[in-house]
Amino acid sequence: MHIEKNSFLVTGGASGLGEAVVRAIIAQGGNVVIADLNESAGHALINELGDQARFVPCDITSGDDVQAAVDMAEKAFGGLQGSVNCAGIAVVQKLLDRDNNPADLESFSRGVNINLVGSFNVARLVAASIAKRVASEATMTAEGNTEKNNADQGIIINTASIAAFDGQVGQASYSSSKAGVVGLTLPLARELARHGIRVMTIAPGVFATPMMQSIPEKAREQLEAGVPYPKRLGNPTEFAKLVTHIIDNAYLNGEVIRLDGAIRMV
Ligand SMILES: NC(=O)c1ccc[n+]([C@@H]2O[C@H](COP(=O)([O-])OP(=O)(O)OC[C@H]3O[C@@H](n4cnc5c(N)ncnc54)[C@H](O)[C@@H]3O)[C@@H](O)[C@H]2O)c1
Repeated sequence: MHIEKNSFLVTGGASGLGEAVVRAIIAQGGNVVIADLNESAGHALINELGDQARFVPCDITSGDDVQAAVDMAEKAFGGLQGSVNCAGIAVVQKLLDRDNNPADLESFSRGVNINLVGSFNVARLVAASIAKRVASEATMTAEGNTEKNNADQGIIINTASIAAFDGQVGQASYSSSKAGVVGLTLPLARELARHGIRVMTIAPGVFATPMMQSIPEKAREQLEAGVPYPKRLGNPTEFAKLVTHIIDNAYLNGEVIRLDGAIRMV
C-alpha cells in the first residue's frame, strides 16, 4: 500500500516510537491522526507538522476516544487506510515483594488493559472503518461508478516487545500483555483477509525513547552491551523504517517481526 495520500491512525504518536512513525508517514506524503494521552506533546507535534497531521486526545482503552480518532480521520482525510498502535506502558512488578507479600493486582491488570485490550480496541474500530469503506466502494463498483480491486485495502500494525518471548523477572504484566499482542496477530489477519486488511506485529528490542530514559544509566549500559550487533539501543527511526516497509509490502501479513539487533533477554 502506498503511504502517499493515504491516512493512518498512530496511537502513542506523541512520543518515542510512535512519534518517529508519525514523522516517517508525513515525510512520505501520508496523513496522520495522532491519538495519545499526552495532549501538550500531541498539540506541539501537529503545530510543527502542519496540514497532514491531526491530534485527538485519546486513551486507547476507551471505545469512545478511539472512535473519535477514527471519526477525525474520516472527517479530515476522507477515511483511514491503517493504524500503527504504539501506545503502551511498562509495568515492573514482581509476583512477591521482599517480604513475600503478593503483587498488587491492579498494577498487573493496568498493563494488560492498556497494552493488550487497548490494542484490540484500536484494531476493532479501525478494521470496522476500513471494512465499511471497502464495502461501500465495492457497491459503487457493482454499480459501475468506480474501478476498485480487492487488493491491500488496509493495514493494522501492533507493537509487542521481545519481552513477549524473553520476559524477565518483574515483567509478568508487561510480558504477558505483549504475548497477548503477539497472539492477536494471526487470528485477526485470518479474519480480516476477506476485507483485504493485513495485520502485522513488530516486537522491538531496546530502543532509545522516553520510555527507556526512565531506567538508570548503568542498566542502560548493560542493555547496550547485551545487543550482539549493533551494540547500542535501537533508534526510533529504525522502527519507523520497518513500519513504512510493512505498509508498502503487501505480502507481509499475519507475522511478528523482531527488531532487536539479535538481543535475547536473559
Ligand atoms: N522503547 C523500547 O525499548 C520498547 C521496546 C519494546 C516495546 N516497546 C513498546 O513500544 C511502544 C512505544 O514505546 P515508546 O518507547 O515509544 O514509549 P513512550 O513512553 O516514549 O511513548 C508511549 C506513548 O504512548 C502514550 N500512551 C500511554 N498510554 C496510553 C493510552 N492508554 N492511550 C493513549 N496513549 C497512551 C504515552 O502518552 C506516550 O506518548 C510501547 O507499546 C512499548 O511497550 C518499546
